[in-house]
Amino acid sequence: MSASLPMSVPAAGLPARVRIHEVGPRDGLQNEKMVVPVEVKADFIARLADAGLDTIEATSFVHPKWVPQLADAEALMPRLEGVDARLPVLVPNERGLDRALTLGVREIAVFGSATESFAKANLNRTVDESIAMFAPVVARAREAGLRVRGYLSMCFGDPWEGAVEIDQVVRVSRSLIDIGCDELSLGDTIGVATPGHVQALLTALNAAGVGTERIAVHFHDTYGQALANTLAALQHGVSTVDASAGGLGGCPYAKSATGNLATEDLVWMLNGLGIETGVDLGALTATSVWMAAHLGRPSPSRTVRALSGTTSPQEQ
Ligand code: HMG
Ligand code: MG
Repeated sequence: MSASLPMSVPAAGLPARVRIHEVGPRDGLQNEKMVVPVEVKADFIARLADAGLDTIEATSFVHPKWVPQLADAEALMPRLEGVDARLPVLVPNERGLDRALTLGVREIAVFGSATESFAKANLNRTVDESIAMFAPVVARAREAGLRVRGYLSMCFGDPWEGAVEIDQVVRVSRSLIDIGCDELSLGDTIGVATPGHVQALLTALNAAGVGTERIAVHFHDTYGQALANTLAALQHGVSTVDASAGGLGGCPYAKSATGNLATEDLVWMLNGLGIETGVDLGALTATSVWMAAHLGRPSPSRTVRALSGTTSPQEQ
């Protein structure tokens, strides 16, 4: 593996440090066809922490039939006891919260949708019914001293409904904040956002009283826009960015199924901008190459390919 790093040349108006919210073990693996053995997941998370990632979304406490890839949450969490990182988990309802609390989870995320179609498809609820489902979850979690993130999906476009109005996104964002979410993560679930759209949404959220310091961005890379969108968000002052090691998730060979922004691609850019992340890019890349071998397919991340000395995914 070559050890090249970009030359650090800071640009004006960007945060000095970015907190990377690593979603590979959850968003990545939930979308992989293969169910990864629980001990491999535990090793993956430990390796990510060793590479310097301090927030690693570990799994989901959702209905096992809806997401069989993460049905082993109860077996996974006890294996993570020595891991030195925040380990948030997804929780959709009180049943999920009960399961998470039993295992000593300290941080959760609820996950709403800006559109009715995805709310129905993902949660079997309308948008408003989903918020009503989350409200007691967030209240109980906060009472128990947990930190709560609120995801909002389809913020920039929806596969069934097409364009999504910014006002609609702001309305549901406000609801997530009003029920008590500490942080709001804006999901570009299908990767259709572009930088001007990102900045327009952030501006509208600020106008509605949602401060930038509470906002994270969550870009999927379907159209290769995730890094450009991230830079637009950083220019607006956002300093929490979601990413998935190796760009895990979906399948690069299947139409319209792609993963999140690859953490390595993000760290490469942030290193070049002189922005602190605490992440060791070499160790992270080695982890993604290791995970790719377990999945039996190469990482789609350009940075992983470049740093692991391969020029095409087939060579990894
Ligand atoms: P439902 O069928 O409406 O559930 O599903 P229900 O409330 O009617 O309950 C039916 C049965 O399921 C009951 O069992 C419950 O106990 C059980 P019964 O009494 O019939 O024996 N049940 C559960 N079991 C275990 N754990 C639970 C649970 N809840 C109910 N938590 C539900 C509603 C929300 C459960 C379902 O729709 C679900 O699990 N959805 C999860 C979908 C999901 O995980 N999607 C991926 C995450 S979102 C995402 O990836 C987007 C994001 O990355 C951001 C972005 O990119 O945009 C975050
Ligand atoms: Mg996602």
